Formats: sequence, C-alpha cells, structure tokens
Amino acid sequence: MEHTTSKLLFSFVLVSHIVIAWPINVECGSYIVHMDKAAIPAPFSTHHNWYTSTLASLSTEDGNAPVHLYTYKHVMSGFSAMLSKSHLAQLANTPGHVATYPETFGQLHTTHTPTFLGLKKHAGLWPAGSFGADMIIGIIDSGVWPESESYNDHGMPPVPSRWRGACESGTKFNSSNCNRKLIGARSFSKAVKQLNLTISLPRDYDSPRDYFGHGTHTSSTAAGSRVENVDYFGYAKGTATGVAPLARLAMYKVLFLNETYGAAASDTLAGMDQAIEDGVDLMSLSLGFPETNFTDNPILMGSFAAMEKGIFVSCSAGNNGSESYTLHNGAPWVTTIGAGTVDRNFLASVTLGDGVTTFTGKSVYPESLLVSRVSLYYGRDNTSKNCEKNSLNSSDVSKKIVFCSFNNKTDVYEQMEEVFRAGAVGALFATDSAQLLFAQDFYMPFVAISPMDGETVEEYLTKTSEATVDIKFQITELGAKPAPQVADFSSRGPNRNFPWVLKPDILAPGVDILAAWLPNSKFVQVGDHYLSTDYILVSGTSMATPHAVGIAALLKSAHPEWSSAAIRSAMMTTADVIDNANGHIVDSANGMSGTPLDFGSGHINPNKALDPGLVYDINVEDYINFLCAMNYTSQHIQVITGRSDYSCDRANLDLNYPSFIVILNNTNTTKHVFKRVLTNVADNQSVYRAAIAYPSGMKVVVEPMTLTFGSKYSKAEFTMEVEIDLSGHGTDTGYIGNFGYLNWYEVNGKHGVRSPIVSAFAL
Ligand SMILES: *[C@@H]1O[C@H](CO)[C@@H](O)[C@H](O)[C@H]1NC(C)=O
Ligand SMILES: *[C@@H]1O[C@H](CO)[C@@H](O)[C@H](O)[C@H]1NC(C)=O
Ligand SMILES: *[C@@H]1O[C@H](CO)[C@@H](O)[C@H](O)[C@H]1NC(C)=O
Ligand SMILES: *[C@@H]1O[C@H](CO)[C@@H](O)[C@H](O)[C@H]1NC(C)=O
Ligand SMILES: *[C@@H]1O[C@H](CO)[C@@H](O)[C@H](O)[C@H]1NC(C)=O
Ligand SMILES: *[C@@H]1O[C@H](CO)[C@@H](O)[C@H](O)[C@H]1NC(C)=O
Ligand SMILES: *[C@@H]1O[C@H](CO)[C@@H](O)[C@H](O)[C@H]1NC(C)=O
Ligand SMILES: *[C@@H]1O[C@H](CO)[C@@H](O)[C@H](O)[C@H]1NC(C)=O
Ligand SMILES: *[C@@H]1O[C@H](CO)[C@@H](O)[C@H](O)[C@H]1NC(C)=O
Ligand SMILES: *[C@@H]1O[C@H](CO)[C@@H](O)[C@H](O)[C@H]1NC(C)=O
Ligand SMILES: *[C@@H]1O[C@H](CO)[C@@H](O)[C@H](O)[C@H]1NC(C)=O
Ligand SMILES: *[C@@H]1O[C@H](CO)[C@@H](O)[C@H](O)[C@H]1NC(C)=O
Repeated sequence: MEHTTSKLLFSFVLVSHIVIAWPINVECGSYIVHMDKAAIPAPFSTHHNWYTSTLASLSTEDGNAPVHLYTYKHVMSGFSAMLSKSHLAQLANTPGHVATYPETFGQLHTTHTPTFLGLKKHAGLWPAGSFGADMIIGIIDSGVWPESESYNDHGMPPVPSRWRGACESGTKFNSSNCNRKLIGARSFSKAVKQLNLTISLPRDYDSPRDYFGHGTHTSSTAAGSRVENVDYFGYAKGTATGVAPLARLAMYKVLFLNETYGAAASDTLAGMDQAIEDGVDLMSLSLGFPETNFTDNPILMGSFAAMEKGIFVSCSAGNNGSESYTLHNGAPWVTTIGAGTVDRNFLASVTLGDGVTTFTGKSVYPESLLVSRVSLYYGRDNTSKNCEKNSLNSSDVSKKIVFCSFNNKTDVYEQMEEVFRAGAVGALFATDSAQLLFAQDFYMPFVAISPMDGETVEEYLTKTSEATVDIKFQITELGAKPAPQVADFSSRGPNRNFPWVLKPDILAPGVDILAAWLPNSKFVQVGDHYLSTDYILVSGTSMATPHAVGIAALLKSAHPEWSSAAIRSAMMTTADVIDNANGHIVDSANGMSGTPLDFGSGHINPNKALDPGLVYDINVEDYINFLCAMNYTSQHIQVITGRSDYSCDRANLDLNYPSFIVILNNTNTTKHVFKRVLTNVADNQSVYRAAIAYPSGMKVVVEPMTLTFGSKYSKAEFTMEVEIDLSGHGTDTGYIGNFGYLNWYEVNGKHGVRSPIVSAFAL
C-alpha cells in the first residue's frame, strides 16, 4: 500500500493547452470570444443583448445550439460560450469579432508571520495603515469556510456603503454566512459545469463554500481576524492574525475539485470581472494558467482591467523553481510574489543511546509522542541501499526506529514510503532537503536530520550493538537563522512572456504558513486514522501572495492616493536583501547567495514600505507603449487592453520599473541604457545621490548622479547605462551571474531607494 497524502505543496501545477476528449458531445467546447466594443450595431441597447443575439443567430445545422456562459463587462469586451466548430467559423465572419480563444485551465499552486514581518501594534505600518480598515480584498480562489474563527467580525464597523458585492446562496451556503469581515462570496462554475468537469460537484460545493481549504488559507492569511490560541497539533502555537486584520474579504470561487481542470479561464475571468464590478480595492490570485501563450491567459487580461481601475493585483510566481525562466504571472502590471522561508523551525530533538549525543531535526509529526530507548535500526543493507524501495525486512524493523542515511541519490519520499511499508515505528532521515518536507509528510514519527548529523548517527550505529534512540516531538523554534531564504520551489525569473521586466518582484513568507483550514477535511493520515484541524501549515507561493496583498492593503489605506505601481515600488525599493544573520539572502535550492532572479528586489519589509521617499510610477499608457514595443499585433493588444483606440506612436520597452534587467541577445551587444523618472512621495524637499553597490561583472554609469526634488510629488529623471562583462561566460540560457544594485540615498535624510540590476540570457 502506498501512502497517499504526502507532498502537498500548494502549487499551481499547470496544465498546458488541453484538448479535452469531450465525453458526449464531441463537437462543442467552451471559448472566450473577444469583440470590438465600439462595433455594437445601433439597434442593441446593451452589449449583452448584442452578444446573445449574435449567438442566437448562429446556424445550428450541425445539431448543436450555442450556450452562452458569461458576458464580460470589465476584464475584456466579449463573452464566453459553448460553441461548435461551425459556430466558430460563423463567428469569425461576424462584424465586430476580434478573436476567439479556446478554454484553458489553471490550478492552484499564521500566527507568526506578522511578527516576523515586523508588524507591531503601536508603531509602523499596522497603525499607519489602520490595520487595513476599509480596504476590500477580493480573493480569487477555491472558496471559503465561513464558520472559521478567522472570519469573526467582532468590533468591525458596518460594511462600507460603496460595496456592491453579494453573498450568494448555494449548496451549504447562504447570505447568513457573510458578515462584516467576509462581506462577499460568489461562485463561478458555468464553464466547468457545461464541460461536465464537475462530476465531483456532489463532493465539492456548488456554492462559495471551500472544498479544498486553499481559499480559506489564503484569505485568512491576507485579512483574517485575530484568533487566540491556535496551533497545528502543538506546533506554531500562538495568536493567528491576518496581515491586514481589519480589512474586509470577498471570496470569488473559481476553482473546483477537478485536479486537472479545476479552474476554467472563462469562470476565472467571470470572477475577476465581478470583483471589479463589486468594488474591491485589491485582488489576490494564488493560481496560474499556462504561460505558453499570453492572450488566452485570463489573469493577464483581468489584471490589466483591474490595474486600469486602480485595483492592486498580486499573483503567485509559481512553484516551479529552481531553474531560470520558470516564473508564472509575470505581467508588468501585476505584483509577482516569490516565496521565502520564515525564522521558525518545527523540530524534534533526538538523543542517541549513549546519552550524550543530542541534536535536532525537522519534524511536524502531529502527535505528542515520547520515544524512549527504542531500538535504532540501520536501514542499509550490505549493498548500501539506503531504505530504497523493498529493501527493508518488516521483521527486522518491527518496533524500531529506522535510520536512513544520505547520499546524493537518495529520495527521502521514497525512503519514507519504504519505512511506512515495512511497518517500523518511525525513522530518522539524513537529508539536505528537509525544507521541501511539509506538514503532511510527517504522517509517521519521522525526523529529517542534516547529512552531518547523519554521519554522527552512522558512526554511533557502526560501533554500537544495542543502539537505541530517544525522540521528543512538537518543538517550535523561533529566531532561526539565516532567514528569510528563497524557498527551493519558488519559481525564478525571467518570465518567458515578459523578460524585459525583472520578476519576481518580491519575496514574502511562503514556507510552513499557519492559517485557517477546513475543520472537516482529512488533512493528515497517521496510522489508519486521519487527523483534522482547523489551522494548518502549508507552503507555496500561494501562501506568499496573500501576505503581499495584505501589506498592499495597509499601504493603500495609509496612502490612498498611491497608484498600484507606486505601492509596488514602495514595497520593492525598501525590501531587504540582507537576512537575519547579516548575510545576503540565501537560495535554499543550493545554499549559496541568491540573486535578483530568485528574490526580485528582496524580502518585503512593510514598515519601511510605508515611507519609501521616492517611487517609480507607471500609468496605463506606459503599459500600452510597452505592449506596442513587444511587437504584438494590434489584435493581441486589443485583446489584452480591451481597447481599439490606442496608439503605438510611443512604443517603449523600457517601463519606469523599480528594477533593471538586461536581456542579452545574440547580437553581441552587451550595453543597455535605461531611462527612469522618480517621484518624491515624502513631505519635504530632498536631494538624493546615486551609489552603485556590488556591481559584479558589470559597469554601471548613472547620469546625473544627484537628483533634486522640490515639494511632494515633484519628479526627476535619470539614465543608467549598464555594460555587461561576458568574459568567462558561456551563452547557455538563463542567469550569467552578474548583478548589482542602484541605490539612491537621501542627502541628510533617512530614505534609501534600492533597485536590483541583473542580466540574463534571452531564452
Ligand atoms: C454534458 O452532459 C450533458 C448531460 O449528460 C450533455 O447533454 C452535454 O452534451 C455534455 N456536455 C459536453 C460538453 O460534453
Ligand atoms: C441560512 O442557512 C441556515 C442553516 O441552514 C439557516 O439557519 C438560515 O436561516 C439561513 N439564512 C438565510 C438568510 O436563508
Ligand atoms: C475531471 O475531469 C475529467 C474530464 O472530464 C474527468 O475524467 C475526471 O473524472 C474529473 N475528475 C474529478 C475528480 O471530477
Ligand atoms: C498560442 O499558442 C498556439 C499553440 O502553440 C498557437 O497556435 C497560437 O498562435 C498562439 N497564440 C498567440 C496569440 O501567440
Ligand atoms: C511548471 O510545472 C508544471 C508541472 O510540472 C508544468 O506543467 C509547467 O509547464 C511548468 N511551468 C514552467 C513555466 O516551467
Ligand atoms: C549481503 O548479505 C547477503 C545475506 O545477508 C549475502 O548473501 C550477500 O553475499 C551479501 N553481499 C555482499 C556484497 O556482501
Ligand atoms: C525477513 O527476515 C526474516 C527473519 O530473519 C526471514 O525469515 C525472512 O525471510 C526475511 N524476509 C525477506 C523478504 O527477506
Ligand atoms: C554523487 O556522489 C558520487 C559519489 O560520492 C560522486 O561521484 C558524484 O559526482 C555525485 N554526483 C553529484 C551529482 O553530486
Ligand atoms: C520589434 O520590432 C522592431 C522592428 O522590427 C525590432 O527592432 C525590435 O527588436 C522588436 N522588439 C522585440 C521585443 O522583439
Ligand atoms: C559575436 O561575437 C563572436 C566572437 O567575437 C562572433 O564569432 C559572432 O559571430 C558574433 N555574433 C554576432 C551575432 O554578431
Ligand atoms: C535586446 O533586444 C531588445 C529588443 O530588440 C533591445 O531593446 C535591447 O536593447 C537588446 N539588448 C541588448 C543588451 O542588446
Ligand atoms: C520637513 O521639514 C520641516 C521643516 O524643515 C521639518 O520640521 C519636518 O520635520 C520635516 N519633515 C520630515 C518628514 O522630514
């Protein structure tokens, strides 16, 4: 029997273009149809009438009638529908038709984190941002478990009158499930239902209620209320609170049980469209769609419309690390979040039978178990198989703790399964990838120890005939160093579609994050029974993203006049690149210093973001000029922007972004000139001086080196020429090791404005 619950990395595992084998009706599929808003014929009073009447006019000679799914108002101009091949051909000839794309599918990708982030009740961003009061965060996810204590609305003022959202009724959900914290909840399932992908709907809920737990976790991380005394089976005990504890939440459920076809693009677009209509201030998406192509990516389109309306959008970078060009959701108008570790470890302490050798290892075993004087068995036979599949003899390991040693070929998941199969009491695994092990992997008394401690155990075992071990579980260590590190799984830049902007933008906590879950879910299997819990530890860029949107809500509350680009700039230029051990942030995939392609501008520092001094701002026209410079066809630009009345006269790939990336082409050109404009957002006049830090393998010239700002909102320009030294580098894809920072330091002032500069080869 294989153990089935291991490896729950909240990933968005993405499916590339899927051609569904339609179960019954071979002809029809769901499509997203872009129309030219301006081409509406005079007789129609609304676009919706125009679209439905267009659909009604299509010939049904092939025996299929088109079925309208959604009309989109904000995210794009057009609609989605179930259509046959013949309908597609007819639509293509309809006046006003721009483009039609087939359905795509996306999938999913804290007590302590506010403290780790430095959020304090009486100083800094928490009080300055009124704990997020009156900000409305829309979460596009798998739904919500409204009974969770994290949605209590104790002491919250009435719902803002500008709110246009609703609490939709459905399976096990009605308007009584919303309150002053959870102010809206809706569900979008038309496409997955029409496509018959919700065979599981009797199990999932045809309503905003969460079946997975993911949406409950992400939303409570962003803006959950304060809840005392929560823990995960004895670990991470404390008070759980969202990053913006007074902000309101609105859930848009677009993800259903089907693990491959869970989130349809047309349903996701409908959720984003409604969130804009309802009046959210910020939006968070911890899911992703295929990156192969971008015009059919609902998040790209929906987030462009949100950006135009001043809505801040944060998206997860994905869990495809640690190679370059694995990043998702890299559009320049969203804030793309990578995952970092937290300074908190979950441990077991191990004492060998000699009574003196003691060390700790990672463990999140959910039961309070005291292992005392239990026989320790060396799980290696004379052919040096380290707990490999079928290598352990059950009668040898019965009632024993197995030690599985480490070499660069061992797979700790395979070793765990083998120990489980053989029926030992528990195991010690020597491994260099303990960080990749999540709460659910500890379904037995398992401890992951370092390869070095593994050698100590090996030595003890080889010279002791009656080896035994003591283990104490459920230890939570705070202040672990170094932290943060880039999580192994966090996707790395550049982004394939938009390599000319450095992504990810920033790191936020994403490893072993404690937040609300479904009390009825079977979270972890221990022996032959399942354990449930209403707060769980999960890892993923999915968990990092709501931290960032919570911080953005605090910033927007403190600075309502800031654009989404200004909020992002404030977070980026004040981010930390130094960890709590005073070293450069480490990439835990290789234990070496990370680079801006791993962590973007660094790890988010909310209190510093409150007062950045200067920001790099970007407006809608700048993004359109950027798309023009990418040489997309006018049809593609129309699809993304929903506009036909734009001009490409000022095409410009050099966005006023708070970070710099040089993509090396095959032209042998290694010089690149950037132009930027800074805006003073501090109250007083100021003078800033440029300094280039750690320029490794590059020559950087800034002109002018001194910028003078008048009153608040005054601007100043500069150029920066970067010349990359290619000597000693091959031309393989990806990172070439050159990076540095541009710092603007305020003269006689406290502000510092930092931007990473990095180079990468074109894909
Ligand atoms: C879904 O199932 C219904 C009822 O069984 C059927 O009428 C319909 O054609 C199916 N849709 C698709 C896309 O296969
Ligand atoms: C919602 O459902 C609960 C439980 O079924 C019920 O007690 C309550 O009256 C319902 N509220 C509304 C507004 O229908
Ligand atoms: C997901 O959809 C596919 C395609 O229709 C179907 O075969 C599968 O059974 C569905 N899975 C679940 C869990 O509903
Ligand atoms: C998207 O990808 C498909 C298949 O690779 C290709 O046929 C299509 O032209 C692409 N569309 C765009 C807009 O690039
Ligand atoms: C990320 O991983 C998934 C699953 O392995 C894969 O389908 C997808 O193509 C990957 N994306 C990138 C950008 O590498
Ligand atoms: C390993 O042990 C088995 C049985 O204990 C024995 O038959 C075999 O010869 C040994 N192999 C080596 C390489 O020592
Ligand atoms: C396991 O060990 C027992 C006792 O030493 C022996 O009888 C049995 O054959 C072994 N089983 C396997 C599969 O090697
Ligand atoms: C793995 O270990 C072996 C033996 O120690 C060594 O020869 C080999 O180079 C290592 N491989 C990797 C990928 O580190
Ligand atoms: C766009 O086209 C122009 C003119 O052909 C070319 O110089 C430029 O490099 C292209 N830009 C990109 C991003 O491919
Ligand atoms: C780049 O430089 C190398 C060596 O100087 C030369 O062989 C190659 O042809 C150049 N490539 C281009 C595209 O100019
Ligand atoms: C690479 O090509 C882009 C688009 O053509 C251009 O803007 C950029 O300057 C080039 N980069 C270098 C280093 O030559
Ligand atoms: C701005 O300048 C005034 C007068 O010079 C000074 O009192 C005040 O502290 C300054 N404010 C900030 C935020 O530096």
